[in-house]
Amino acid sequence: MRQAGRSLPEYRRAREGTAMLDACLTPELASELTLQPVRRHDVDAAIFFSDIVVPLRLAGVDVDIKPGVGPVLGRAVRTADDVAALPSVEDDAFSAALAPVRDGVALTVAALGSTPLIGFAGAPFTLAAYMVEGGPSRDHLAARTLMHADPQTWQALTAWTADVTGAFLRAQVLAGASAAQLFDSWAGSLSLADYTTHVAPASSRALAPVRDLGVPVVHFGTGTGELLVAMRDVGADVVGVDYRIPLDEANRRLGGSVPLQGNIDPALLAAPWPVLEAHVRDVVARGASAPGHVVNLGHGVPPETDPDVLTRVVRLVHGIDG
Ligand code: CP3
Repeated sequence: MRQAGRSLPEYRRAREGTAMLDACLTPELASELTLQPVRRHDVDAAIFFSDIVVPLRLAGVDVDIKPGVGPVLGRAVRTADDVAALPSVEDDAFSAALAPVRDGVALTVAALGSTPLIGFAGAPFTLAAYMVEGGPSRDHLAARTLMHADPQTWQALTAWTADVTGAFLRAQVLAGASAAQLFDSWAGSLSLADYTTHVAPASSRALAPVRDLGVPVVHFGTGTGELLVAMRDVGADVVGVDYRIPLDEANRRLGGSVPLQGNIDPALLAAPWPVLEAHVRDVVARGASAPGHVVNLGHGVPPETDPDVLTRVVRLVHGIDG
């Protein structure tokens, strides 16, 4: 999950003096940062060290990641003219700009050996929400206003983010990633009707470039208890669930149709071990009701997490039968 590395002293050492997006675009460093949590915790898969806004930067959008804040744009994108002025991503220049991503993935896959690498991208809504707001926001009001106030501009913007993020995801799979994860982190701010009408078509479009590549697609968002079926239906093979609903309930809502990923509550990483252990055992037990279960956290690792606790959680999960 996002920020797994931030709790590691070796991550902080390796990142010292390098801005987040520069680290993502330096293949050797991105590869090293991907491998660190695998070495430490003996997890069963790695997630590529990058960020959902990397393809926006590579397309030529003025975006940066401010520590403690998140993605911030030089200028918000709100009008039809703003959207029309976005850089073209259908040309070879954008494909060429993705080279550091391809190189980082290839280096990482070679170093990982038999451990699979998960590639990922941001979903069109979550990316568009950052672009319309100009940065992080709690309720994504400006984005949700735009989809109703000017549906055509919204459609054009999310088609653009779909193409940019779809190309980023495809580049990772072609370079050797074994699975693709689409993060619609802020989809939980949407009603089911808005999701279905104004967001799902763009998410399907973002997944189209990896559909022919034969890798499983995981689709994750937070606060998406009401959206699980719709999120599956955009073309997910695995549905990621945050910590807000138990996995047996998520499986019931999905009719037992897909494997689930989730959903250890990050807050409990700081609880006394017996409390955390009971929670992890409960997550694994509830996950067993689904056709398959990828155990992970229900959202990112808090930076102040004790890395030894993460290692202990992995060991516990590996030791549970079934
Ligand atoms: O474990 C990993 O590091 C995997 C790589 C990864 C990152 N970002 C690196 C990162 C992944 C999978 C992401 C996805 C991501 N980025 C999402 C979707 C997943 C989710 O958690 O919901 C989102 C919404 C973002 C946008 C973003 N990038 C935010 C909100 C932040 C946090 C800003 C902060 O400092 O609080 C980032 C920065 C970021 N992305 C960090 C990392 C390791 C922290 C950078 C640092 O060291 O300061």
